[in-house]
Amino acid sequence: MNTDKNSFQSGDMVLLQDRKDRRYLTTLADGQVFHSHLGRLSHDFLIGHSVGGWYRTDRGHTLLAVRPTLGEFVRQMPRGPQIIYSKDLGNIVAFADIFPGATVVESGLGSGALTAALLRAVGDRGRVITYEIDESVTPKAMANISRVIPSPSNLTVTIGDVYQGIEERQVDRVVLDVPEPWQAVPGVAEALVMGGILISFLPTILQVHQLVGKLQEDGRFQMVETVETLLRPWHVTERSVRPAHRMVAHSGFLTTAVRCLPRVIGTVDNPSPPLNAEPDGPQSLRD
Ligand SMILES: C[S@@+](CC[C@H](N)C(=O)[O-])C[C@H]1O[C@@H](n2cnc3c(N)ncnc32)[C@H](O)[C@@H]1O
Repeated sequence: MNTDKNSFQSGDMVLLQDRKDRRYLTTLADGQVFHSHLGRLSHDFLIGHSVGGWYRTDRGHTLLAVRPTLGEFVRQMPRGPQIIYSKDLGNIVAFADIFPGATVVESGLGSGALTAALLRAVGDRGRVITYEIDESVTPKAMANISRVIPSPSNLTVTIGDVYQGIEERQVDRVVLDVPEPWQAVPGVAEALVMGGILISFLPTILQVHQLVGKLQEDGRFQMVETVETLLRPWHVTERSVRPAHRMVAHSGFLTTAVRCLPRVIGTVDNPSPPLNAEPDGPQSLRD
């Protein structure tokens, strides 16, 4: 266990950056050596030394060494299925309001990037249950997750088809990154608490259209909203301040929906409206 936050220990992940801002991710181990076209750097030079320090390779190149963020790790981690990157991970946690202590059902596990972000957001008191249809993805995903959270005892991996239903009840949030989430809607409605939130990541708008149609037809979901995040990095130097030439133009759409009672069943008539009340109540800010 690393007790000194300021220095690297054996087993720590380290992100090395060269003078052209190229980044390399490695895990420190006694006696190991990092190799690149810039030369060799012994891990022993870093172990016990400063995070945020500058280290010279045997070819005289200087590398900056820091701890990777979750987003940086995700970008570099070994993967099978397509992962969700940090621009969407952040908004999934925010828009689905994933909170410490929450019980979250996710599908699918894939390479584990989203699962790691969810585990961080729910914390030790929360739970993540992930449904994955393809058992073969689990070793790589679990290896990735354990690099971020060493022993995720509050993670349950259920090998199964989320379209066939969700066993859990009173679930706070459901997070879907599967190709046909509309097939999971009835099961999600059974699993979520009243007021619980479903969020779905989908790469194409035709999939979004089909999901939203199913949510409306089901009747147990309200406040259905779809957003897309465009993240444009900027190049800022003394002589030039402009958007970066390149950006990720598209990753996917996020659709959220809140589990509610169906409208007719759920309507509660106000027995004694105030005399000066507007006939239909105030206009919703969402309209
Ligand atoms: C795009 S990947 C998920 C990537 C993951 N969110 C990440 O960030 O690493 C989709 C995963 O869903 C799984 N999957 C597809 N259909 C499924 C279903 N009906 N039930 C459970 N898992 C499913 C696939 O096997 C795949 O691993």
